[in-house]
Amino acid sequence: MNILLLGSGGREHALAWKMSKSQHCDQLFIAPGNTGTALHGTNINIAVNDFEAQKKFCIEKQINIVVVGPEEPLVNGVYDFFKKDNSLKNIIVVGPSKEAAQLEGSKAFSKKFMQWHNIPTAAYAEFTKDTFEEGKKYITQHSLPIVLKADGLAAGKGVVICNNHNEALQAFEEMIINKQFGDASSKVVIEEFLSGIEVSVFVLTDGKEYQIIGHAKDYKRIGEGDTGLNTGGMGCVTPIPFVDDLFMQKVEEKIIKPTINGLAKENLEYYGFIFFGLINVNSEPLVIEYNCRMGDPETEVVMPRLNTDIVALFAAMDNGTLADANISFNDASFATVVAVSGGYPGEYIKNKLISGLQTEQLNKNAIVFHAGTKQAEQGIVTNGGRVLAVTASGKNIKEAVIISKEILNNISFEGMYFRKDIGYEFES
Ligand code: AMP
Ligand code: GLY
Repeated sequence: MNILLLGSGGREHALAWKMSKSQHCDQLFIAPGNTGTALHGTNINIAVNDFEAQKKFCIEKQINIVVVGPEEPLVNGVYDFFKKDNSLKNIIVVGPSKEAAQLEGSKAFSKKFMQWHNIPTAAYAEFTKDTFEEGKKYITQHSLPIVLKADGLAAGKGVVICNNHNEALQAFEEMIINKQFGDASSKVVIEEFLSGIEVSVFVLTDGKEYQIIGHAKDYKRIGEGDTGLNTGGMGCVTPIPFVDDLFMQKVEEKIIKPTINGLAKENLEYYGFIFFGLINVNSEPLVIEYNCRMGDPETEVVMPRLNTDIVALFAAMDNGTLADANISFNDASFATVVAVSGGYPGEYIKNKLISGLQTEQLNKNAIVFHAGTKQAEQGIVTNGGRVLAVTASGKNIKEAVIISKEILNNISFEGMYFRKDIGYEFES
């Protein structure tokens, strides 16, 4: 099968790496890709939201599968674009319809969905400019901390956790009145703060059946000890000791099954990944958020741990045999540690030469996934905030993290930073 993968991050390098190993993968193209994806296929200069250019390319190259990496094209309706076009409708698109992508694209939609289908999540209310005064009252009477979320996509910056009411009132005004996130914050979800450990569970579904393809714990803060600003993710580990059979049984019964059944009941067309952002509160899982795609850097540990052929799973998703698929995992633990540009998640400078980056697969226990990298005349240079994600396997999380860090210690670029404490809770 010929495959077109949309995106250019570490997630896409990991997906390209995984798909290229499949016996079902003939030609693999990545739009636009990065220097890492180019090791497994052909990068093409088409933007993720340029559906017309993707159409032309898919017809020309007889593409059978389009795998959508990031959320934006999904929320913009790439699935519907392909399915409504007679010349494209037989192509398997790995991703939900535009309507179903609202599970990620609108926090208010996802909260309503969870309420309708009795899926455990934080209690909430939603407000707009018209209900601004009521919102202020709601905040003042709410317990602390309190969580404010811009309804729409805000590049991971739309969530504010406030420890006092004044701060919350200010953040609320910023979002609604001053349009801090433009249209994305014209509606704001306010919810109770949940205290616990977060874990993400990944599912592939055809909207009726599903398979759990892995889970991971992400480290979102820039600073060691989980301090400082939120980032896209500074590292991930899997498997997590508390994600045992009992916990996963609760996740399946209380969260995954009601979600998939809810999609079917509401006729929401969904052929793709669901990223369940969960929090473990006293051994009970609750949903913090849904994403309609794989996570980054979660994919960089989930794909290496998954033994099953992912392209075969996409085909099974398309032909109604997903329930029969056999999912198996590598017995090892996996960690990925992300190297970022100095200043990230704030301002940073690109085009810094990366040295020590000799080969992608340094040894059988480690892979250097590229995120923000670019080929320049002088060599491979930085091209984003998150630059590399080094994944390693080991007999436990601690060993995997040590190997990742050893490899990162041999790589350098001006301003390079990575957290040294990924997986700190898991000492063995
Ligand atoms: P979201 O974009 O909804 O995933 O929120 C981003 C991050 O904010 C999450 O990964 C959590 O760390 C945190 N967060 C969101 N909602 C809550 C909540 N209700 N209680 C505690 N933390 C939250
Ligand atoms: N690492 C979090 C995300 O992909 O949303």
